[in-house]
Amino acid sequence: MRILYRFFHDYLRPNLGLIIGGSALAALAGLLQTVLIGCLKWVFEAFDPQAAAGGGIPDALPAFTATKAWLMTHLPNGSALQTSAFVPLVVMVLFAIKGLCAYSSSMLLARSGLRATQKLRERLFGHLLGQEPAFFQQYPVGDLLTRCITDVWQVYGIATTQFAELVRESITAVAGIAFVLYLDWKRSIVLLLAGPLVIMPLKSLSQRIRRIYYKNQEAISAQLQRLKEVFSNIRLVKGFAREGYEAKRFEGQNAELFKIGLRSAHAAAMSHPIMEMAGGVILAGLIFWASADIQAGKLATGDFITYLVAVFALYAPVRRITKVNNEVQAARASLDRIYFMLDRAPRMSAPASPAPVPDQPQYLRFEDVHFEYEPGTPVLNGITLEIRRGETIALVGGSGGGKTTLVNLVPRFFDPTKGSVTIDGRDLRDFDPGELRLRIGIVTQETMLFMDSVHDNIAYGKPFGREAVVEAAKNAQAHNFIMQLPHGYDTNLAEAGSSLSGGQRQRIAIARALLQDPPILVLDEATSALDTESERAVQEALEALMQNRTTLVVAHRLSTVQNATRICVLKHGQIVESGRHADLLAKNGEYARLYQLQFANGGNLDSGE
Ligand SMILES: Nc1ncnc2c1ncn2[C@@H]1O[C@H](COP(=O)(O)OP(=O)(O)OP(=O)(O)O)[C@@H](O)[C@H]1O
Ligand SMILES: [Mg+2]
Repeated sequence: MRILYRFFHDYLRPNLGLIIGGSALAALAGLLQTVLIGCLKWVFEAFDPQAAAGGGIPDALPAFTATKAWLMTHLPNGSALQTSAFVPLVVMVLFAIKGLCAYSSSMLLARSGLRATQKLRERLFGHLLGQEPAFFQQYPVGDLLTRCITDVWQVYGIATTQFAELVRESITAVAGIAFVLYLDWKRSIVLLLAGPLVIMPLKSLSQRIRRIYYKNQEAISAQLQRLKEVFSNIRLVKGFAREGYEAKRFEGQNAELFKIGLRSAHAAAMSHPIMEMAGGVILAGLIFWASADIQAGKLATGDFITYLVAVFALYAPVRRITKVNNEVQAARASLDRIYFMLDRAPRMSAPASPAPVPDQPQYLRFEDVHFEYEPGTPVLNGITLEIRRGETIALVGGSGGGKTTLVNLVPRFFDPTKGSVTIDGRDLRDFDPGELRLRIGIVTQETMLFMDSVHDNIAYGKPFGREAVVEAAKNAQAHNFIMQLPHGYDTNLAEAGSSLSGGQRQRIAIARALLQDPPILVLDEATSALDTESERAVQEALEALMQNRTTLVVAHRLSTVQNATRICVLKHGQIVESGRHADLLAKNGEYARLYQLQFANGGNLDSGE
């Protein structure tokens, strides 16, 4: 219930005016329906002069007769209305008003529902964006998509008709109960005491519906995740001709959804029979009791029949409440999932009074840094490393040695499990993570592009002008190929930049990092997808840019790191060697071994990774 209250408080209260207005208009439209029926009397009067002369049909709606009289005396040519044209005219006007009420009611309620879901979705998205990077490893894309789209949509009903319906039917039910109490309070109190007989099974059914819907949303998450993977890896699917396999898996997931759907339909369909069964038992008891009273002469048959009719009238609102309740339970399962996320505090947040990040950091230090993704499986094992401004440190070593992990600590994608990373002597945790990341230019191992223009991909969310973008692209050796695209910098990239080659994508990513003009550069295999020629060109550009910056470079191709200030060889999460290229070669250790391996491998310096 708390969740519903919170939703009411956060999202319905601001829209209460819309909900009440919409419901009132809906009620008015309903009322006009009755009025339309009342108009039939006029039809008879218009065509039957005898009735009009004071005849047989009783004045069902005196107000309308009065209105009609008023219209006829006040309107110009009012008496002309006395003709048969009058009634059709009124009917048309009433229909128009009724239509207007129905339309306005729908629009007000839709506005309320849309506004509530929109606010909820925006808040959820903002909150998810605020989570620490590790969070997104824990919750797959499909799960987050389901929560942001499907779950939020489930709530739409509450913010439109369900809430109003619940209030309306509850009022009807309370009025009905009051009437029943008035007719025969003794019997009614016994009746109300028997109420739990109906409510208890419905309550457990409610819980069941909620559980099933929870499962339903989880199954949808799994399916979305799979769809996302299949469609984004479609070349893999096609390349290995696994369409049949994927279709089978999809069928499996669909079968699961079908099962869950049936179970939820079953639970919903059970609610009426359960109610009627329980109601029947109560009714039988009532009749048994009453017949004894009637026989004893304590109760008149007519009174009892009136009473029974009143009790039956209670059934309709209770039934509708049950139906709405089932819908609300489904929405509640979604609300649970949404609030679960909204209540999750990011594990990494800005300190209360963050230290200002130095504009030109003098040094970046790793101090006895340990790190593990999974407790018990150390990935970094006591790394100590200092990089001064203007220096370039290259990290090399075998795959899985922890290079990416180490550089990911700099923008605080993760925090060390032990030890610390500092800038000018201050722990990174003292800074606002957003502020810190603005000072760091990152090119990651996987190049990430959006379905936007080339310009927007390079400027990414900042109002950089075309000149600055072009300059960055030139430095990244990207300008020439961009100019050959159909619309140059305005060319829209296909999803994930799949219309570009790997090397082209990488150069756009480099341009993006360079454009930020960050004092700290992190390049993780930034040039790995480039051919030797463009790599050399990009390398030169990067080297020019590395002046005066603090740079961490990860590279498999040792040819690209020979000019680094220092090369660190990472193995099993430890720096096993460090020094300049020539010194390390002379040392004839791990680096020399890697270097020779690459040299032997096809005669060039490519490891062929
Ligand atoms: N997100 C993660 N969750 C759990 N374990 C991870 C994660 N990322 C990496 N690892 C593990 O940490 C270890 C180091 O991985 P890392 O990516 O840092 O290696 P690397 O040196 O960058 O390798 P490569 O040269 O292949 O890029 C590996 O054993 C890997 O399995
Ligand atoms: Mg890596």
